[in-house]
Amino acid sequence: MPKLGVNIDHIATIREARKVREPDPIAAASLCELAGADGITAHLREDRRHMQERDIRLLRQTVTTHLNLEMAPTVEMLQFAIDVLPDMVTLVPEKREELTTEGGLDVAGKIEDITRMVNSLHKHDVAVSLFVDAELHQIKAAVRTGARFIELHTGQYASAYDFGEGNEWEEELVKLDNMAQVAQKSGLMVNAGHGLNYRNVGPIAEIKGLWELNIGHSIIGRAVLVGLDRAVRDMVALLRD
Ligand code: PXP
Repeated sequence: MPKLGVNIDHIATIREARKVREPDPIAAASLCELAGADGITAHLREDRRHMQERDIRLLRQTVTTHLNLEMAPTVEMLQFAIDVLPDMVTLVPEKREELTTEGGLDVAGKIEDITRMVNSLHKHDVAVSLFVDAELHQIKAAVRTGARFIELHTGQYASAYDFGEGNEWEEELVKLDNMAQVAQKSGLMVNAGHGLNYRNVGPIAEIKGLWELNIGHSIIGRAVLVGLDRAVRDMVALLRD
């Protein structure tokens, strides 16, 4: 069974809608852990639209499972990560105008910069994961950077499953499965995430050897209706089954 990392950005999104103090993502992270989450993921974006630096610093002190900081590969963010020392950094591409991360990182196109960043983080004992599309040249490039993890972008699979036609989702699943196996054979640990929900997570959770799934929107969306504890427990139960 893959581990479950809960992305709690949307708790901060609700807080930032009013620029007030609640709901506090720090409290949410504790509830997720009590409900069985194996880790907490948070994305500190350049525009600080949801998570704030204060959140990540406090999460570092309070998360007892595993803290995964998603961030853009910039010098400013690298300095912040080295100051805070999360357990893992996941490098993601970032565009100001996007609603959410839209695609994988072009590791192949920025291999030198990313390798330097991986080395700096490793020197501080921070594991590094690279968020990539299920494409062979990106996996090969990820291996060359020395990163120990990749996170496969499941966004296309998820939208094909939820809104696509015919067996489009199965084709996306085969691609993800093949690249997960290639990556593992090359020595990488493989995470996956983006767009996963209670309907479409099953086939992804069955991919052999996956280490962790990072899931945010669907869990927090369900939590608004049934409570965070139940929403996390429902997802943990699905992964176990
Ligand atoms: N993984 C990465 C790299 C992401 O950027 C996100 C969204 O912040 C997620 C996983 C979680 O995606 P979702 O909110 O669609 O579950």
